[in-house]
Amino acid sequence: MKPKYVVGNWKMNHNLASIKEFFMGLDRMKMELKCEAWIAPQFVHIPILKDLAFSLGKAKIGAQNSAIAESGAHTGEVSPATLADMGVEFVILGHSERRSIYKESNEVINQKVTLALNNSLKVIFCVGETLEERENNKTFEVVRQQLHQGLKGLMWNSDLMVAYEPVWAIGTGKTATPDQAEEVHAFIRKELSLQFGEQGKVIPLLYGGSVKPDNFGELLSKPSIDGGLVGGASLKIADYGALCSIASSYY
Ligand code: PGA
Repeated sequence: MKPKYVVGNWKMNHNLASIKEFFMGLDRMKMELKCEAWIAPQFVHIPILKDLAFSLGKAKIGAQNSAIAESGAHTGEVSPATLADMGVEFVILGHSERRSIYKESNEVINQKVTLALNNSLKVIFCVGETLEERENNKTFEVVRQQLHQGLKGLMWNSDLMVAYEPVWAIGTGKTATPDQAEEVHAFIRKELSLQFGEQGKVIPLLYGGSVKPDNFGELLSKPSIDGGLVGGASLKIADYGALCSIASSYY
C-alpha cells in the first residue's frame, strides 16, 4: 500500500506563538497517524518545528526553497547542503510563486532540483498551468515543458516527487475537479515513465490548489493522486488534522 501524503506549505505565515499553539492543538487531537504528514515552514522556524513536530510521529520538516549552489557568494540564499546538514528532509522547488514573483525559470529550477537531490533531500517539484494557459488549451504543453526542462539530465531518484498545482487553483478557493486533476496527473505519470521507465510510475504525485478537508477525500480516491500539497488549509490545526485523518483512512 503506497502511503498518502499531506504536505503543508506554510509559505510566509505563522509566528512563534502560533506555531506552539498549532502543535499543542495537534497533540490534543491525539491522532493515530497512518499517513505521511509533512510541513514546510519559513526557514528560520525549521529547527523549532523539528523540536515540536514529534507529536506528528514520523513527520518530516522541509524547506520551501533552496539555492542553485552549495556554498559561496550567494547573499541571502540557503544552500541545499546546509539544509541537509540541519536535518531538513525535503524541499519544495518550482512553486508557482517562485516562478511568478521571483522569476525562476525552468533552467534555474532544474539546477535547484539537481543540487537538492545530490544533497539527499527529498524534492517536491511543482508544475502547473495558469488560467490563461488552460483556457487556451495549453495545459499539457506547459506541464510537459516544465517537466522536461525542470527534470533535464536527471536519472531516476527515489527522493523525487512531483506536485501538480494549477496556478488558477492556488489560494483562490477554486479547486480543480477530481477529474481535471486526475487527467493531468495521469499525463504527468506517463511523461515520467517516458523519462524514467518503470520507476517513473512509482514517483509520488501530489495535487495542490485549494485542497480542503471537504474536497481531499475525493481527490485522494483518484488512482494517480498520492496526496496533497496544501497551503491555506495547512495553517489551521483543525483543517490540517482533518486532512491527516482523511489521508490515514486510506491506509
Ligand atoms: P493553497 O496553496 O492550498 O492555499 O491553494 C497551495 C500551494 O500553494 O502549495
